[in-house]
Amino acid sequence: MPEPDGAGGGPTRPGRRVRLAILISGRGSNMEAIARAAQASDYPAEVVLVVSNRAEAAGLARAAALGVPTAVVPHREFPSREAFEEALHALLAAHRVEAVALAGFMRVLTEGFVRRWEGRMVNIHPSLLPLYPGLDTHARALAAGDREAGATVHLVTPVLDSGPVLAQARVPVLPGDTPETLAARVLEAELALYPRAIADWLRPWAAAG
Ligand code: GAR
Repeated sequence: MPEPDGAGGGPTRPGRRVRLAILISGRGSNMEAIARAAQASDYPAEVVLVVSNRAEAAGLARAAALGVPTAVVPHREFPSREAFEEALHALLAAHRVEAVALAGFMRVLTEGFVRRWEGRMVNIHPSLLPLYPGLDTHARALAAGDREAGATVHLVTPVLDSGPVLAQARVPVLPGDTPETLAARVLEAELALYPRAIADWLRPWAAAG
């Protein structure tokens, strides 16, 4: 896979662990599930950094409690989206990050940033894509009368929530569901899905050295 500018690289050996960063904006339950899975010695990635664009993100404390280094790149303090992303990219490069997982990261990324990480960045989205890209996925599934919902792990491409699908998890929509009850059921599925999907995605890469 191609190296992003200035990141990754260095000598490698078979069976190594890919240097993974997780980007969050809030609660961080998916981040925690990945970081916990990565505590196993045979997991093909190590979580070398958790980055939030919001200093108040609860996930930062959850990462710190697991001993994972954290950083904040506060998007509001940058004059443009590009300047924010330049700082983010520099931080990832400084930590020799090779792959990125978006986990409840609620900033739209520009095409320029996405291209720099193309093939090396995944996202989890709380719907069965291509259904319901964007926000309010659970309310939209309920309004449509869907009988099942779920989550999708996909490679990030410049078009929002549209990259190649790596894995999906399905859950039933139950009578009386609200967006909140459905979100909780989907989240439970996400926490099992995302660490496994990342492992499947990175294992060949790690094995190749
Ligand atoms: C998750 O449900 C994730 O799928 C969703 O935000 C939640 C984050 O929760 N992501 C998106 O909506 C991205 N468009 P978490 O911070 O507790 O993992």
